[in-house]
Amino acid sequence: MSQYNNPRRVAIVYGLRTPFAKAGTLFKELTSLDLGKIATVELVNRTEIDPGEIDKVILGTVLPSIKTSNLAREIALSSGIPASVPAFTVTSACASATQAFTNAVESILSGDSEVVVAGGVESISDFPVLFSKRFRNMLFDSSKGKNLLQKAKPFLKMGVSDIAPDIPAIAERSTGLTMGESAEKMARQNQISRAEQDSFALRSHLLAYKAQKEEIIRKEMVNTFVPPDFEEPVLIDNSVKSDLSIEALSALKPAFDKQYGTVTAGNSAPLSDGACAMLLMSDEKARSLGYKPLGYVRSYAYSALDPSDQLLMGPAYSTPVALERAGLSLKDMDLIEIHEAFSAQVLSNIKAFASKKFAEEKLSRTKAIGEIDIDKVNVTGGSIAIGHPFGATGGRIIMTLLYGLHRRQGNFGLATVCAAGGLGASIVLEKE
Ligand SMILES: CC(C)(COP(=O)(O)OP(=O)(O)OC[C@H]1O[C@@H](n2cnc3c(N)ncnc32)[C@H](O)[C@@H]1OP(=O)(O)O)[C@@H](O)C(=O)NCCC(=O)NCCS
Repeated sequence: MSQYNNPRRVAIVYGLRTPFAKAGTLFKELTSLDLGKIATVELVNRTEIDPGEIDKVILGTVLPSIKTSNLAREIALSSGIPASVPAFTVTSACASATQAFTNAVESILSGDSEVVVAGGVESISDFPVLFSKRFRNMLFDSSKGKNLLQKAKPFLKMGVSDIAPDIPAIAERSTGLTMGESAEKMARQNQISRAEQDSFALRSHLLAYKAQKEEIIRKEMVNTFVPPDFEEPVLIDNSVKSDLSIEALSALKPAFDKQYGTVTAGNSAPLSDGACAMLLMSDEKARSLGYKPLGYVRSYAYSALDPSDQLLMGPAYSTPVALERAGLSLKDMDLIEIHEAFSAQVLSNIKAFASKKFAEEKLSRTKAIGEIDIDKVNVTGGSIAIGHPFGATGGRIIMTLLYGLHRRQGNFGLATVCAAGGLGASIVLEKE
């Protein structure tokens, strides 16, 4: 039974993703539209769903695509989904695909939809670059000119600095801190050492590489052909390192606090490009179409904390609520997928889960959420190794969790992400 005591149950019929590529590398010629289309077309092909059965398409993304502001609609239209199917785009930082997923769940639970495509996409390589506000004002004023002279006039006062690119920062508007600086703060406040961060990062790469070698994550991937020659498909996440050592990690200089910091490029998730797509249905519809779903949604919850506190602690706030709604406890979880923005953030959350003090002071609960069994966490690696296309990661961890539950004969799993703005999202899934 779902968290709403709703007799309808939401099935995840199938899910897949493109490989994730470090920004500026294999997918640098592709846009978010291209990546989203690759995932969506393959989802439709593999599941053999009649596109006419799809009621809605909901996709998440973070960096706005100026030319395709409703990216989901453009992806749907270019993926052979009928023009009569509504599509919309959501954004919620690193929880964007999670948000798209739970919007799809809500649409199905309410009876508004039977079949929804949900997922997310990000092309950091194709990030939007703005001009300064002053220059944009000049462009605007010029567009109002009625003749050449009037069109040229606004530019007469233009200086070189006016046309300097205005590049988006991965920073909180409210605090001015970048994500990396927030991770540094969390490492300090929770006493997470550099050695602990590096060893967690190494674990992520070792597990991801093992999964790559044993081809156990092939199931969730689409072979992705890239321009200019479209000959050799990209088959793997290219930021996973096969030869990483603790020595190499500990030799890296801090990336954010150059003097005293412990957060490095090695123990942070790299900036990446990629997309994912999932097919969700009401259980009834899935049965009537003859599908054997990968799993079902048991519950979910979102949280938000003050960004000036420990920004990336979202999972420690949203998880107890999701577990309560599921009627389950942490130890019932057979597998846990937690987004690895930074080692410092994962390790801080793990500490908070186990802490009675955190439960009392931050959650107004009498008991700690529970000790996380690390052997159940990110067993095929996490975002530090696999990469982190902001808008797609929330979907990747849902799919990875479901495929993992099948491999390990588990039933319950928790997928949880932290996100900019102090947001957190947790979803409890069940295989049966
Ligand atoms: C950390 C970050 C700033 C690094 O960016 P970058 O400097 O462009 O990263 P690079 O890939 O060039 O790596 C820097 C160096 O570290 C090395 N490096 C990176 N990862 C490594 C690893 N796992 N092992 C060993 N070396 C590694 C690179 O080879 C490079 O070395 P070089 O300078 O000798 O060429 C960037 O990845 C980032 O901002 N990540 C966080 C993203 C974020 O905020 N996400 C939101 C989370 S909610």
